[in-house]
Amino acid sequence: MIKMNNIMKQFGEQIVLSDVTFAVNKQEIFGLLGPSGSGKTTIINILTNQLEADNGSKFIGVTPFETGLMLDEDGLYPRLNCLENLHLFTSIYGIPRERALEALKKVGLEDATKKAVNALSKGMRQRLALARAILHEPKVLFLDEPTSGLDPGTAREIHQLIRNLRDNGATIFLTTHNMDEAVKLCDNVALLNKGRIVEHGAPVEICQRHHAIKTVPDLEAVFIKITGVELK
Ligand SMILES: Nc1ncnc2c1ncn2[C@@H]1O[C@H](COP(=O)(O)OP(=O)(O)O)[C@@H](O)[C@H]1O
Ligand SMILES: [Mg+2]
Repeated sequence: MIKMNNIMKQFGEQIVLSDVTFAVNKQEIFGLLGPSGSGKTTIINILTNQLEADNGSKFIGVTPFETGLMLDEDGLYPRLNCLENLHLFTSIYGIPRERALEALKKVGLEDATKKAVNALSKGMRQRLALARAILHEPKVLFLDEPTSGLDPGTAREIHQLIRNLRDNGATIFLTTHNMDEAVKLCDNVALLNKGRIVEHGAPVEICQRHHAIKTVPDLEAVFIKITGVELK
């Protein structure tokens, strides 16, 4: 459903991505894992046509309208309430207004429809950003660090929402620097370090390859073993 072949990207003198190649299957949760600055957001920006690669090719199996995107900056209007924010986007997309309330229900914000964005907790804002990303029922969803800065309980709620979307047919591409999250949530992952993919596959298989399964699979140990880099 999503493919990148030998992608190269340079900002000035700095090579940010070198020879990035991976594939994402239909209806899976795929995690791109790497420390801060490793190139995760740059890859999402290239896949969503916000940035052009210097070399290589990419493929997405759906039209741009059939993709949804949730970035770090949530881009919500702080003084408008949840429902008003989503109504803006139903107008822009030219889709039925009812989708706004439906999306809020899907992310568990049905009791906060009249709350202004600037009065929401971080977790609620994140859920609203997710509601906006799924408003037009995309088949492919790109989520850039969807749980960063959230407490473990709220992160688990977001995980369940992501699983529900996958179970309803969506293909999910997400980034994270949290290896535990990846083991619990992702069907397949690619480990990124300094713009290079150093491992990919199912989390448990990767851990087995590197003998990092004692009681629980430990992707973080694998990453440090391969790269010598601590995750942060
Ligand atoms: N527009 C840009 N101009 C120059 N350098 C950039 C730009 N965007 C990202 N970078 C650099 O590219 C590297 C990878 O950034 P990014 O993809 O945001 O990493 P991540 O999302 O993994 O934290 C960083 O060193 C960052 O400073
Ligand atoms: Mg980033």
